[in-house]
Amino acid sequence: MYGSKTSRVVIIGTGFVGSSYAFSLINQNITDEMVLIDLNKEKTEGDAMDLNHGIPFGSPTKIWAGDYADCKDADIVVITAGANQRPGETRLDLIGKNVKIFKNIVGSVMNSGFNGIFIVATNPVDVLSYATWKFSGLPMERVIGSGTILDTARFRFLLSEYFDIDVRNIHGYIMGEHGDTELPVWSQTRIGSEPIKRYMSKYKPEGKDEDLDEIFINVRDAAYHIIERKGATHYAIAMGLARLTKAVLRNEHSILTVSTLMRGEYGLDDLYIGVPAIVSERGVERTVEIDLSEKEMEQLHHSAEVLKEAMKPVFD
Ligand code: LAC
Repeated sequence: MYGSKTSRVVIIGTGFVGSSYAFSLINQNITDEMVLIDLNKEKTEGDAMDLNHGIPFGSPTKIWAGDYADCKDADIVVITAGANQRPGETRLDLIGKNVKIFKNIVGSVMNSGFNGIFIVATNPVDVLSYATWKFSGLPMERVIGSGTILDTARFRFLLSEYFDIDVRNIHGYIMGEHGDTELPVWSQTRIGSEPIKRYMSKYKPEGKDEDLDEIFINVRDAAYHIIERKGATHYAIAMGLARLTKAVLRNEHSILTVSTLMRGEYGLDDLYIGVPAIVSERGVERTVEIDLSEKEMEQLHHSAEVLKEAMKPVFD
Protein backbone atom coordinates (compact mmCIF):
# COMPACT_ATOMS: atom_id res chain seq x y z
CA MET A 1 0.00 0.00 0.00
CA TYR A 2 1.49 3.34 -1.13
CA GLY A 3 0.16 6.31 0.73
CA SER A 4 -3.30 5.64 2.18
CA LYS A 5 -4.91 3.95 -0.87
CA THR A 6 -5.04 0.21 -1.57
CA SER A 7 -3.34 -0.29 -4.94
CA ARG A 8 -5.01 -2.52 -7.52
CA VAL A 9 -3.53 -3.84 -10.78
CA VAL A 10 -5.73 -5.67 -13.30
CA ILE A 11 -3.97 -8.00 -15.75
CA ILE A 12 -5.86 -8.72 -18.97
CA GLY A 13 -4.35 -11.79 -20.59
CA THR A 14 -2.79 -14.49 -18.43
CA GLY A 15 -0.68 -16.24 -21.01
CA PHE A 16 3.09 -16.47 -20.70
CA VAL A 17 3.65 -12.72 -20.29
CA GLY A 18 0.63 -11.97 -18.08
CA SER A 19 1.27 -14.83 -15.66
CA SER A 20 5.02 -14.07 -15.49
CA TYR A 21 4.13 -10.43 -14.77
CA ALA A 22 1.74 -11.50 -11.98
CA PHE A 23 4.54 -13.64 -10.52
CA SER A 24 6.92 -10.65 -10.65
CA LEU A 25 4.44 -8.35 -8.91
CA ILE A 26 4.13 -10.73 -5.97
CA ASN A 27 7.85 -11.40 -5.65
CA GLN A 28 8.64 -7.68 -5.75
CA ASN A 29 5.77 -6.70 -3.42
CA ILE A 30 4.50 -4.07 -5.84
CA THR A 31 0.73 -4.05 -5.43
CA ASP A 32 -1.89 -4.70 -2.73
CA GLU A 33 -4.46 -6.26 -5.10
CA MET A 34 -4.14 -8.13 -8.39
CA VAL A 35 -7.02 -9.20 -10.62
CA LEU A 36 -6.58 -11.73 -13.43
CA ILE A 37 -8.83 -11.58 -16.51
CA ASP A 38 -8.64 -13.89 -19.52
CA LEU A 39 -11.00 -15.50 -22.02
CA ASN A 40 -9.92 -18.77 -20.43
CA LYS A 41 -11.64 -18.26 -17.04
CA GLU A 42 -10.45 -21.63 -15.73
CA LYS A 43 -6.82 -20.61 -16.40
CA THR A 44 -7.28 -17.39 -14.37
CA GLU A 45 -8.83 -19.39 -11.52
CA GLY A 46 -5.95 -21.84 -11.58
CA ASP A 47 -3.37 -19.05 -11.77
CA ALA A 48 -5.02 -17.19 -8.87
CA MET A 49 -4.99 -20.35 -6.73
CA ASP A 50 -1.38 -21.14 -7.63
CA LEU A 51 -0.18 -17.58 -6.96
CA ASN A 52 -2.14 -17.31 -3.70
CA HIS A 53 -0.46 -20.46 -2.43
CA GLY A 54 2.88 -18.68 -2.87
CA ILE A 55 1.87 -15.65 -0.78
CA PRO A 56 3.36 -17.07 2.44
CA PHE A 57 6.73 -17.05 0.62
CA GLY A 58 6.16 -13.70 -1.07
CA SER A 59 4.24 -10.59 -0.10
CA PRO A 60 0.68 -10.06 1.18
CA THR A 61 -1.21 -9.50 -2.09
CA LYS A 62 -4.93 -10.10 -2.63
CA ILE A 63 -5.26 -12.04 -5.90
CA TRP A 64 -8.43 -13.20 -7.64
CA ALA A 65 -9.76 -14.30 -11.01
CA GLY A 66 -12.06 -11.44 -11.88
CA ASP A 67 -13.96 -9.71 -14.64
CA TYR A 68 -14.16 -6.27 -16.22
CA ALA A 69 -16.23 -4.86 -13.33
CA ASP A 70 -13.04 -5.14 -11.24
CA CYS A 71 -11.39 -2.51 -13.47
CA LYS A 72 -13.58 0.26 -12.00
CA ASP A 73 -11.39 0.65 -8.91
CA ALA A 74 -8.09 -0.28 -10.55
CA ASP A 75 -5.11 2.07 -10.53
CA ILE A 76 -3.57 0.28 -13.49
CA VAL A 77 -4.91 -2.05 -16.19
CA VAL A 78 -2.16 -3.97 -17.98
CA ILE A 79 -3.03 -5.55 -21.32
CA THR A 80 -0.92 -8.54 -22.37
CA ALA A 81 -3.73 -10.31 -24.27
CA GLY A 82 -3.57 -10.93 -28.01
CA ALA A 83 -1.87 -13.02 -30.67
CA ASN A 84 1.88 -13.55 -30.22
CA GLN A 85 4.65 -13.59 -32.81
CA ARG A 86 5.17 -17.02 -34.35
CA PRO A 87 8.64 -17.98 -35.67
CA GLY A 88 9.41 -15.77 -38.68
CA GLU A 89 6.60 -13.28 -37.93
CA THR A 90 7.39 -9.63 -37.26
CA ARG A 91 5.57 -7.74 -34.54
CA LEU A 92 3.87 -5.51 -37.14
CA ASP A 93 2.37 -8.65 -38.76
CA LEU A 94 0.08 -8.88 -35.71
CA ILE A 95 -1.65 -5.50 -36.25
CA GLY A 96 -4.87 -6.69 -37.91
CA LYS A 97 -5.66 -9.38 -35.36
CA ASN A 98 -4.70 -7.45 -32.26
CA VAL A 99 -6.32 -4.08 -33.02
CA LYS A 100 -9.68 -5.89 -33.26
CA ILE A 101 -9.05 -7.65 -29.93
CA PHE A 102 -8.05 -4.34 -28.34
CA LYS A 103 -11.18 -2.54 -29.49
CA ASN A 104 -13.21 -5.06 -27.46
CA ILE A 105 -10.91 -5.13 -24.44
CA VAL A 106 -10.53 -1.35 -24.11
CA GLY A 107 -14.28 -0.87 -24.58
CA SER A 108 -15.03 -3.39 -21.84
CA VAL A 109 -12.55 -1.75 -19.46
CA MET A 110 -13.93 1.76 -20.06
CA ASN A 111 -17.53 0.52 -19.62
CA SER A 112 -16.57 -0.45 -16.06
CA GLY A 113 -15.96 3.23 -15.22
CA PHE A 114 -12.17 2.76 -15.21
CA ASN A 115 -10.35 6.04 -14.66
CA GLY A 116 -6.76 4.91 -14.12
CA ILE A 117 -3.69 4.21 -16.25
CA PHE A 118 -3.33 1.66 -19.08
CA ILE A 119 -0.04 -0.12 -19.56
CA VAL A 120 0.11 -1.89 -22.94
CA ALA A 121 2.49 -4.80 -23.62
CA THR A 122 0.89 -6.67 -26.53
CA ASN A 123 2.65 -6.32 -29.88
CA PRO A 124 2.97 -4.32 -31.96
CA VAL A 125 3.07 -2.34 -28.74
CA ASP A 126 3.50 1.13 -30.28
CA VAL A 127 0.47 0.70 -32.56
CA LEU A 128 -1.64 -0.93 -29.83
CA SER A 129 -0.76 1.83 -27.36
CA TYR A 130 -1.98 4.38 -29.91
CA ALA A 131 -5.11 2.24 -30.41
CA THR A 132 -5.71 2.09 -26.64
CA TRP A 133 -5.37 5.87 -26.39
CA LYS A 134 -7.84 6.35 -29.27
CA PHE A 135 -10.33 3.70 -28.10
CA SER A 136 -10.26 4.76 -24.43
CA GLY A 137 -10.53 8.52 -24.85
CA LEU A 138 -8.18 8.89 -21.86
CA PRO A 139 -5.59 11.70 -21.83
CA MET A 140 -2.39 10.51 -23.55
CA GLU A 141 -0.35 10.52 -20.33
CA ARG A 142 -2.54 7.71 -18.97
CA VAL A 143 -1.83 5.27 -21.79
CA ILE A 144 1.72 3.93 -21.57
CA GLY A 145 3.25 1.32 -23.87
CA SER A 146 6.15 -0.86 -22.69
CA GLY A 147 7.93 0.56 -25.73
CA THR A 148 11.66 -0.14 -25.79
CA ILE A 149 12.15 -0.64 -22.04
CA LEU A 150 13.02 -4.29 -22.74
CA ASP A 151 15.31 -3.41 -25.65
CA THR A 152 17.09 -0.85 -23.46
CA ALA A 153 17.50 -3.53 -20.78
CA ARG A 154 18.93 -6.00 -23.34
CA PHE A 155 21.26 -3.26 -24.62
CA ARG A 156 22.55 -2.46 -21.15
CA PHE A 157 22.94 -6.16 -20.27
CA LEU A 158 24.96 -7.04 -23.38
CA LEU A 159 27.19 -3.98 -22.94
CA SER A 160 27.75 -4.87 -19.27
CA GLU A 161 28.85 -8.36 -20.36
CA TYR A 162 31.14 -6.95 -23.07
CA PHE A 163 32.87 -4.46 -20.77
CA ASP A 164 32.60 -6.62 -17.61
CA ILE A 165 30.98 -3.70 -15.78
CA ASP A 166 27.96 -3.74 -13.40
CA VAL A 167 24.85 -3.23 -15.55
CA ARG A 168 23.81 -0.43 -13.17
CA ASN A 169 26.75 1.59 -14.48
CA ILE A 170 25.80 1.15 -18.12
CA HIS A 171 23.69 4.10 -19.25
CA GLY A 172 22.09 4.14 -22.67
CA TYR A 173 18.81 3.92 -24.58
CA ILE A 174 17.22 2.03 -27.41
CA MET A 175 14.59 4.31 -29.02
CA GLY A 176 11.98 3.99 -31.77
CA GLU A 177 9.65 1.12 -32.67
CA HIS A 178 9.80 -1.85 -30.35
CA GLY A 179 10.79 -3.85 -33.37
CA ASP A 180 13.01 -4.12 -36.42
CA THR A 181 13.49 -0.34 -36.90
CA GLU A 182 14.59 0.48 -33.32
CA LEU A 183 17.88 2.36 -32.91
CA PRO A 184 20.75 2.52 -30.38
CA VAL A 185 21.60 6.03 -29.15
CA TRP A 186 25.37 5.50 -29.17
CA SER A 187 26.04 9.25 -28.95
CA GLN A 188 24.54 9.29 -25.45
CA THR A 189 25.69 5.87 -24.19
CA ARG A 190 28.02 6.00 -21.17
CA ILE A 191 29.99 3.58 -19.04
CA GLY A 192 29.81 5.25 -15.66
CA SER A 193 30.15 8.87 -16.64
CA GLU A 194 32.47 8.18 -19.61
CA PRO A 195 31.11 8.30 -23.16
CA ILE A 196 31.30 4.69 -24.44
CA LYS A 197 33.76 5.30 -27.30
CA ARG A 198 36.13 7.18 -24.95
CA TYR A 199 35.84 4.44 -22.32
CA MET A 200 36.58 1.78 -24.93
CA SER A 201 39.64 3.61 -26.25
CA LYS A 202 41.02 3.94 -22.72
CA TYR A 203 40.09 0.61 -21.11
CA LYS A 204 39.33 -1.81 -23.95
CA PRO A 205 41.64 -0.75 -26.76
CA GLU A 206 41.16 -4.16 -28.44
CA GLY A 207 37.45 -3.40 -28.77
CA LYS A 208 36.08 -2.62 -32.23
CA ASP A 209 33.07 -0.65 -33.46
CA GLU A 210 31.97 -3.87 -35.17
CA ASP A 211 31.61 -5.45 -31.72
CA LEU A 212 29.21 -2.70 -30.72
CA ASP A 213 27.27 -3.06 -33.96
CA GLU A 214 26.95 -6.80 -33.28
CA ILE A 215 25.71 -6.08 -29.77
CA PHE A 216 22.94 -3.86 -31.15
CA ILE A 217 21.92 -6.48 -33.73
CA ASN A 218 21.63 -9.06 -30.96
CA VAL A 219 19.45 -6.61 -29.02
CA ARG A 220 17.20 -5.87 -31.99
CA ASP A 221 16.82 -9.55 -32.95
CA ALA A 222 16.72 -11.02 -29.42
CA ALA A 223 13.03 -11.92 -29.52
CA TYR A 224 13.46 -13.89 -32.75
CA HIS A 225 16.36 -15.87 -31.25
CA ILE A 226 14.39 -16.64 -28.09
CA ILE A 227 11.16 -17.50 -29.92
CA GLU A 228 13.09 -19.90 -32.19
CA ARG A 229 14.39 -21.68 -29.07
CA LYS A 230 11.47 -21.66 -26.64
CA GLY A 231 8.44 -20.41 -28.57
CA ALA A 232 7.91 -17.13 -26.71
CA THR A 233 9.59 -14.45 -24.61
CA HIS A 234 8.05 -13.56 -21.25
CA TYR A 235 10.37 -13.32 -18.24
CA ALA A 236 12.23 -10.10 -19.14
CA ILE A 237 9.20 -8.28 -20.51
CA ALA A 238 7.27 -9.27 -17.39
CA MET A 239 10.03 -7.82 -15.21
CA GLY A 240 10.03 -4.67 -17.33
CA LEU A 241 6.28 -4.32 -16.83
CA ALA A 242 6.81 -4.76 -13.08
CA ARG A 243 9.44 -1.97 -13.19
CA LEU A 244 7.01 0.29 -15.03
CA THR A 245 4.19 -0.56 -12.57
CA LYS A 246 6.44 0.33 -9.64
CA ALA A 247 7.35 3.70 -11.20
CA VAL A 248 3.62 4.52 -11.41
CA LEU A 249 2.44 3.15 -8.05
CA ARG A 250 5.37 4.64 -6.13
CA ASN A 251 5.26 7.93 -8.04
CA GLU A 252 8.96 7.51 -8.79
CA HIS A 253 9.39 10.03 -11.64
CA SER A 254 11.69 7.50 -13.32
CA ILE A 255 13.04 7.98 -16.83
CA LEU A 256 12.18 4.89 -18.91
CA THR A 257 12.04 4.39 -22.69
CA VAL A 258 8.29 3.80 -22.81
CA SER A 259 6.02 4.15 -25.83
CA THR A 260 4.22 7.48 -25.56
CA LEU A 261 2.40 9.91 -27.83
CA MET A 262 4.55 12.29 -29.84
CA ARG A 263 3.17 15.84 -30.09
CA GLY A 264 6.06 17.56 -31.83
CA GLU A 265 8.88 16.07 -29.75
CA TYR A 266 11.83 14.97 -31.91
CA GLY A 267 9.89 16.50 -34.81
CA LEU A 268 7.32 13.68 -34.60
CA ASP A 269 3.54 13.88 -34.28
CA ASP A 270 0.47 11.71 -33.76
CA LEU A 271 2.07 8.34 -33.06
CA TYR A 272 3.23 6.30 -30.09
CA ILE A 273 6.94 5.41 -30.17
CA GLY A 274 9.70 4.48 -27.68
CA VAL A 275 11.45 7.52 -26.24
CA PRO A 276 12.91 8.40 -22.79
CA ALA A 277 10.02 9.74 -20.68
CA ILE A 278 9.35 10.52 -17.02
CA VAL A 279 6.91 8.01 -15.45
CA SER A 280 4.98 8.85 -12.26
CA GLU A 281 1.59 8.30 -10.61
CA ARG A 282 0.13 10.54 -13.33
CA GLY A 283 1.48 8.23 -16.04
CA VAL A 284 3.86 9.87 -18.52
CA GLU A 285 4.79 13.25 -17.00
CA ARG A 286 6.63 14.26 -20.16
CA THR A 287 8.98 13.09 -22.89
CA VAL A 288 12.68 13.79 -22.34
CA GLU A 289 14.16 15.14 -25.58
CA ILE A 290 17.80 14.01 -25.52
CA ASP A 291 20.32 15.26 -28.08
CA LEU A 292 20.57 12.83 -30.99
CA SER A 293 23.20 12.70 -33.70
CA GLU A 294 22.02 13.44 -37.24
CA LYS A 295 22.13 9.70 -38.03
CA GLU A 296 20.15 8.81 -34.90
CA MET A 297 17.48 11.41 -35.69
CA GLU A 298 17.21 10.03 -39.23
CA GLN A 299 16.84 6.50 -37.84
CA LEU A 300 14.17 7.66 -35.39
CA HIS A 301 12.21 9.34 -38.18
CA HIS A 302 12.54 6.22 -40.35
CA SER A 303 11.17 4.15 -37.47
CA ALA A 304 8.26 6.57 -37.09
CA GLU A 305 7.53 6.42 -40.82
CA VAL A 306 7.41 2.62 -40.73
CA LEU A 307 4.98 2.73 -37.80
CA LYS A 308 2.77 5.35 -39.48
CA GLU A 309 2.68 3.32 -42.69
CA ALA A 310 1.68 0.22 -40.76
CA MET A 311 -1.05 2.16 -38.92
CA LYS A 312 -2.60 3.64 -42.10
CA PRO A 313 -4.95 0.73 -42.96
CA VAL A 314 -6.21 0.67 -39.37
CA PHE A 315 -6.61 4.31 -38.39
CA ASP A 316 -7.01 6.31 -41.62
C1 LAC B 1 10.20 -9.17 -26.93
C2 LAC B 1 8.71 -9.06 -27.00
C3 LAC B 1 8.14 -8.59 -25.68
O1 LAC B 1 10.88 -8.27 -27.47
O2 LAC B 1 8.29 -8.18 -28.07
O3 LAC B 1 10.68 -10.10 -26.25
